Amino acid sequence: MQTIINFPLKSLNSFGFDVKAKEFIAVESSANLRSAIDYAQAHSLPWFVIGGGSNLVIHNDLPGLTIHVQIMGKKLVSKTATHAFVDVGAGENWHAFVQWSLDNQLPGLENLALIPGTCGAAPIQNIGAYGCEIGQWIDSVEVLDTYESDEDRMWQTLTRSDCQFQYRHSVFKKDPGRYIVTQVRLAIPLVWRPNLQYAELAKHVANISPLLPKDVFAAVCHIRQAKLPDPKVLGNAGSFFHNPIVDESTYLSLKNQFPDLVAYPSDTLNGTPQFKLAAGWLIDACGFKGFRQGNVGVYHQQALVLVNYGHGNGKELLDLARTIQEKIHAVYGVDLTQEPINLP
Ligand code: EPU
Repeated sequence: MQTIINFPLKSLNSFGFDVKAKEFIAVESSANLRSAIDYAQAHSLPWFVIGGGSNLVIHNDLPGLTIHVQIMGKKLVSKTATHAFVDVGAGENWHAFVQWSLDNQLPGLENLALIPGTCGAAPIQNIGAYGCEIGQWIDSVEVLDTYESDEDRMWQTLTRSDCQFQYRHSVFKKDPGRYIVTQVRLAIPLVWRPNLQYAELAKHVANISPLLPKDVFAAVCHIRQAKLPDPKVLGNAGSFFHNPIVDESTYLSLKNQFPDLVAYPSDTLNGTPQFKLAAGWLIDACGFKGFRQGNVGVYHQQALVLVNYGHGNGKELLDLARTIQEKIHAVYGVDLTQEPINLP
């Protein structure tokens, strides 16, 4: 197995931080992935798996072995009376896959267009946008369970319910480092119904008749491009914090104090109502939109997005995040949790 020493990761993390991997290998098959893990274990090296690097804060050079999953391939595997089943390799780019699904008359994923990152990373944080979450389309996920040493038990298929999808959360986040995703199987309903529950999206397509999947796709791309920075131009990892979920009494008391507060009803917890607060609103209302601290800052169009102006590093970014978290806690008594994963 040939690894590369001191491999630059600047183009493999969407913040564009100038960090290196002590040892690096790209794997294009499950067998190569297995060899890479064996190599790390045999040499007692810590190992890190990266896909598109779009949900990471790499704040130091990575020790040990960094494994870049590049397992490719996408195909329609079967159709039932109601669903098309599609397999996609973990290394495929998510947005290109959404485009491919539309080109192959398999619409349904268009609300998730332009989300950066790979298909293998999609189930990990249960990517979501404009009223959709990938968990709803996932049939199963093929993984390498690194806690197993037995060859047969090592390769597993996790069903949708095994994945325990919740808002930006899954079994993969609960037990980080345990599973490495190699392939995802999606179950796409054959009957297409546009999902227009996000008001701005509905407004965008209101005058289009008949409404086609490609129109929704174009509208989603338009809305995202207007609000979210392109990581190739300005380093970022999309939303930096989760939208906090609070109980009804917390919501009502905040709404009373801050009548403009933006919040939505969320899933109930043990039968009691919960509310999702728009973290972007909380941060914006504290005056942070466009705020800059050294080489990093808060995006001027969307306060939930932190950006690297070019020469920033992970430490500066995490300092900024802490400043925001402390202010939000002091003003609203609400804790903001970070969405991207910190490495090492
Ligand atoms: N808002 C402000 N100021 C801001 C930003 C937002 O007042 O600076 C208000 C908006 O007016 C709006 C509300 O907050 O009423 C919600 O904003 P937006 O619709 O932009 O969505 P979001 O809650 O900030 C979430 C996801 C995004 C996803 C959008 C659209 C999370 C953490 N983020 O953002 O996902 O694209 O909804 O569905 O759930 C990502 O995860 O990286 C991501 C971009």
